[in-house]
Amino acid sequence: MTEACHVDVFTHLANWIGRQPELASAAPGRINLIGEHVDYQGGLVLPAAIDLGVYAAAVRIDEPVLRLHTSFRGGAEVELPLDALAPLDGASSWANYPLGVAACYRKAGHETGGLAIAFDATLPAGAGLSSSAAFEAATAVIVEQALGIELPPRERALLCQQAEHAYAGVPCGIMDQLAVNAGHVGHALLIDCQSLSVTPTPLPEGVAMVVVDSGVKHALADGEYAKRRADCEQAASILGVGCLREASLADVEAAHATLGDRVFRRARHVVSEIERTRRFATAMATGELQAAAALMAASHASLRDDYEVSCPELDTLVEIANTLGVAGARMMGGGFGGSTIQLVPASAAVDLARAIEVAATAKGLRVSAFPVNAAAAAAPVAL
Ligand code: GLA
Repeated sequence: MTEACHVDVFTHLANWIGRQPELASAAPGRINLIGEHVDYQGGLVLPAAIDLGVYAAAVRIDEPVLRLHTSFRGGAEVELPLDALAPLDGASSWANYPLGVAACYRKAGHETGGLAIAFDATLPAGAGLSSSAAFEAATAVIVEQALGIELPPRERALLCQQAEHAYAGVPCGIMDQLAVNAGHVGHALLIDCQSLSVTPTPLPEGVAMVVVDSGVKHALADGEYAKRRADCEQAASILGVGCLREASLADVEAAHATLGDRVFRRARHVVSEIERTRRFATAMATGELQAAAALMAASHASLRDDYEVSCPELDTLVEIANTLGVAGARMMGGGFGGSTIQLVPASAAVDLARAIEVAATAKGLRVSAFPVNAAAAAAPVAL
């Protein structure tokens, strides 16, 4: 999270409202090392907050309205009465994240007066790096500052998730919101999505992370996430468990015929991915990088073949990364586009990112590859 960006958002607010900020926040995006499409089944995930994010600067205003201005997602302004915060359509739908957060805080009894909030971002939107969760967390921190409160990360994450469900219409799990609200510098976070416990887990010495943004988002992505959730819920109900975290691979295999092939493969992905995450966390703790790489490869194959959320571009990028000798690569996030994540030797991170871009360009892909660092949680910014 860079100093320059705070200054930019302060200038942005001043140019828009003509006043200096009274409140300011910064919220990181996230990567996910492993544990994909398991958070909404009570699974284990291993994300990290990163040093790219969303920045907000705000002033209190006398009128009971929420005014929002962004240079992010196209650039636009929205103004709504505080007592009538409702989802917007079309060009204004970017505002559903911040207004949803303000609305969820109000519903939970945390009512602010009028606010004008400006947003800027260093985080690319649509890259699978949770710009939505960063946008939500940056807003939540401003709202909390306005109220003079500081909610624990878990409580804030749950309010942000509620906003995403009810105002952005995305039935997401809790991983992204917890990752950006509980981040630790230099650490990934082992999150148990059943108990919501977060265990900061240091990245091994000499290892860095490189993100490759595929630049693609396939149209079918939207409805597919909800379909995967529905398949998992069906599997859990057939297996007689509250969520797939409570089922074993043997349980899933024994019920293959009853589940039917598609639901069987969805459930096999979830239970095997939870086990891979457990083993990956151990491999990181003991510095067994080869084991970690093999688990990332198996995660990618399972997301591609059993869960069917990869796409040709992501598969190609993972193949390229593996031929260039990274220490692990896989698709990341919801899928159907977005980014891949690779673990690489720290000394070669910049060179490997460049080599991946060159090799991808040769295959007709227009990608952007860059190292990221594990960063701190969303927080107020000093004025
Ligand atoms: C999106 C959702 C998360 C999670 C991932 C897949 O990022 O917001 O809750 O389900 O997809 O792991």
